[in-house]
Amino acid sequence: MSVPPTILLFDSGLGGLTVLREIVGARPDAHYVYVADDAFFPYGHHSEEQIIARVVPLVGELIKTNTPDLVVIACNTASTLVMSHLRSAYKVPFVGTVPAIKPACASSKTKRVSVLGTKGTVKREYTRKLIHDFALGCEVTLVGSAELASLAESALSGNAVSDADISAELAPCFVEHGGARTDTIVLACTHYPLLLDRLIKLAPWPVDWIDPAPAIARRASDLLGPPGNESDEAGAEMIFTSRRQHTLSQALMPFFGGRVPA
Ligand code: DGL
Repeated sequence: MSVPPTILLFDSGLGGLTVLREIVGARPDAHYVYVADDAFFPYGHHSEEQIIARVVPLVGELIKTNTPDLVVIACNTASTLVMSHLRSAYKVPFVGTVPAIKPACASSKTKRVSVLGTKGTVKREYTRKLIHDFALGCEVTLVGSAELASLAESALSGNAVSDADISAELAPCFVEHGGARTDTIVLACTHYPLLLDRLIKLAPWPVDWIDPAPAIARRASDLLGPPGNESDEAGAEMIFTSRRQHTLSQALMPFFGGRVPA
């Protein structure tokens, strides 16, 4: 383990920042490299073969260049496909992000749970298996959104995003069936917590929103082992695969725990 440890977070875009924010809170001692594969965004629109062929070698190059102690794939659309490929190809420990179906079904009182993810994530065999294994008698509605990740990026970049556009993606999550209503929604795409305030406001009735980021942060921290006595300001870098310069520093700083990413 290096001192300070380096954690590399990978997502198709800016959604992984919602995972970064939790990990930085748990491990202020670490050095962070955040990689947004914006040149290939959105992953939800690519086939399974395209995502595997893109992500596995790209993560390999990033490991070579940045020598991380831990890699977090902060993207459900990728994690539901590539984790076993990555673990067999590279030695570094990995943490993935997959739909939090188990805790959602365990806590739902009405036994009506919706999973809101990209079209890719809701189609995955991996997601179907989670439902098969952990639904615990819940009726689970899968909702594949084509646009919400892009809307979240747009909102984070300071553009106006209309309530109507968000509501159109959200509406199918709210189901009333057999006298019971959806009471729990799994945020199965790391972009969606970026819009959480809007989602809460636009929900036709109150629900619990399940964001897996705190659990991912605990897992990442456990894998790193206890923090040393290093300073809290080990720094951070942000890389866009399109090689564009990031112009969002002000908006991004809170996710990096106040550091300005280089
Ligand atoms: N942030 C990603 C996820 O968690 C995907 C968004 C996309 O690229 O379509 O699924």
